[in-house]
Parts: sequence; structure tokens; C-alpha cells
Amino acid sequence: MEPVILKHPLIDNKLSILRNKKTGTKEFRELISEISMFLCYEALKDAKTETVEIETPVAKTKVNKVNEDDYAFIPILRAGTGMLDGLIKVLPNAKIGHIGLFRNETTLKPVRYYYKVPKDIDKKQVVVLDPMLATGGSAIDAITMLKEEGAKNIKFLCIISAPEGIKKLQEVHPDVEIYTSAVDEKLNEKGYIVPGLGDAGDRIFGTK
Ligand code: PRP
Ligand code: URA
Repeated sequence: MEPVILKHPLIDNKLSILRNKKTGTKEFRELISEISMFLCYEALKDAKTETVEIETPVAKTKVNKVNEDDYAFIPILRAGTGMLDGLIKVLPNAKIGHIGLFRNETTLKPVRYYYKVPKDIDKKQVVVLDPMLATGGSAIDAITMLKEEGAKNIKFLCIISAPEGIKKLQEVHPDVEIYTSAVDEKLNEKGYIVPGLGDAGDRIFGTK
């Protein structure tokens, strides 16, 4: 399954500010949230709706509603929580889980430190969030944990991805659809995406 890339001049415009090292914490956070809304919009365009009858001030009519309980948003800590804000603007009643992983800076392997996901995850459309898909290790491990819990329908949303991470994620989890707003050139020797945007967590939380 090929990744879905948000190709749009308005997304490019937002990315142009996001990538700039001069962009400050507030604007960076807002842009992560806004781009995430567009990723969510694209990723959930197959959302099932049910028809219900309501009354407008003018007449009775039939409207289509999404059952928000069918959705679970799972940010990978920390940086994934920066995307959550955008997604819950779209589906405010979706259930939320958290998976805590950080990359060991020497081995680049993800280390797990927290795991809590909504019950009945096996019956939900699961949407995993992380702004960066670099080597793919964090996304792969998070998705493996969710599958062990029974999750079957999983989509992965990221802001910037590296070709190496996409390839690895597709090899290990070929059933998972990837939605990204940009596919960059490569990884550097430290596992950073080039040109990328630097360390997403540090830029969202202002920790460096
Ligand atoms: C970053 C990012 C991803 C991971 C991507 O998190 O948010 O989770 O690296 O790299 P990978 O594809 O090579 O696994 P980091 O480990 O820096 O933790 P943080 O979110 O707490 O900053
Ligand atoms: N994690 C980040 O935050 N940035 C990268 O470029 C790679 C991994």
C-alpha cells in the first residue's frame, strides 16, 4: 500500500514555516496541530456514517453522523501529543490512548515507558500519531503493541517521513495505511530526517 501524501500548496505553505529553525514554540505547536487536522480529514474520509432524523429550525431532515466511539487516537509520547489537539477538534469524542516511547540516541531503538489504551481497541478504528517517521522503529513497536492487544484497523499519521521509515513500516506492518504531509530525502548519520524539522518533541515543548 503506497503512503498517502498530502500534496497541497496550503500544506506546503504551513510546512515552510514549520521547518524553519527560526519558528518559535507557539507557532510550531499551532502548525503541528493544524496540519494534523488535515491529515485526519484525509485519513478518515472512509468513515462510516449512520443516518438519523433531526429537526432544523425549518424542517425535519435526515443527516449523516459518525459514531465517534468507534475511533481511538493513540499519540506516541511525547511528540505525538502535539498532533492530538488537531484530531480532537475533528472528532472530540474519540477515545484516546498513550504509548510512551523514546529513541535511545545511540542505538536509535525505541524504549517503552508507558502504555495505556482504550478498552475494546480490537473493535475500533485506531489512528496512531507521531509527527516524525524516521527509522520507523517507534511506529513499528507502537503498532506491534496495539496488534498484541487485538487492534486490527490501524492508520498511521505523521507530519514528516523518511523513505527509510516508510519502507520499514510497510515491510513489518503492510496492512497499516500511512498518511503523511511530506516525504523527505533521507536520514542522516544520527537518524534525523533531512531536511526535516529537527527534534519534533523539543520544538513542540520548547525543551532545547
Ligand atoms: C521522535 C519522534 C518519534 C521518533 C521517530 O521521538 O517523535 O517518536 O523519534 O524516530 P524513529 O522513526 O527512528 O523511531 P523521540 O524518541 O525523540 O521522543 P520524544 O517524542 O519524547 O521527543
Ligand atoms: N525524531 C525527530 O524528532 N526528528 C527527526 O528528524 C527524527 C526523529
